[in-house]
Amino acid sequence: MNKAQIVANWKMNTTISDSINISTKLSNASLDINNIDITICPPALYLAQVHQILKNSSLKIGAQNIHSEEEGAYTGEISAKMISDYCDTVILGHSERRQIFKESNQDINKKFLLAKKFNLNSIICVGETIQERESGKAKKIVSTQILSALKSTSDFNKLLIAYEPVWAIGTGKAATAKDAQDMCSYIRNVITELNKNNVAENIPILYGGSVNSENIELFTQQKDINGALVGTASLDPDEFIKLIKKTKQ
Ligand code: 13P
Repeated sequence: MNKAQIVANWKMNTTISDSINISTKLSNASLDINNIDITICPPALYLAQVHQILKNSSLKIGAQNIHSEEEGAYTGEISAKMISDYCDTVILGHSERRQIFKESNQDINKKFLLAKKFNLNSIICVGETIQERESGKAKKIVSTQILSALKSTSDFNKLLIAYEPVWAIGTGKAATAKDAQDMCSYIRNVITELNKNNVAENIPILYGGSVNSENIELFTQQKDINGALVGTASLDPDEFIKLIKKTKQ
């Protein structure tokens, strides 16, 4: 069985001193985490510093994004190769990237292929808006996002999926565990259709959207939910440590 995966997405929050404080607290916490993989995704600017602090701990490091081209004249952007010096993992296609920065499913596919090239785990984020859910289109949207992101490869070795309904992100209104399980089970079926060699069973599927130390257990008890992608609650190290301790292993 897969280890549970808890991933912290700090988004565009923290200063350098916050990043040092949070990472140091996490690195010093006595976490009994044999069965949990924990990945911290700070802003790109702080990857080197956080890497320095966490390199002798069991915590892993991820980036929040990469550019869809390998290198070149892309002022202000960060490449897969650059982050691969510090990171095990990259978050791809977060709904904030899709909505605010207009990333397309095709961009996310290119990023996934590049991440593989640099031996990075990809956490591909999918999820519907409230309008899409209310009009009964949630599953169609999520399956399109997955099928497009995974185009041109059947190697799903370094793949994780995060189901993050847009309406649950940063709102304090998490999905019910039942609705999250229903979608995560559907996602596993979509991947099974793509690759029938039982790989879907081993792909970690995470839930994200207003996860905290109070509700984490409800999600990780579900059959098809293998962990969580955590925003707000990962910025407070005491709350995040509590959340990790409550994660079903
Ligand atoms: P919140 O936990 O703040 O809802 O954010 C979720 C998220 O977007 C993680 O990627």
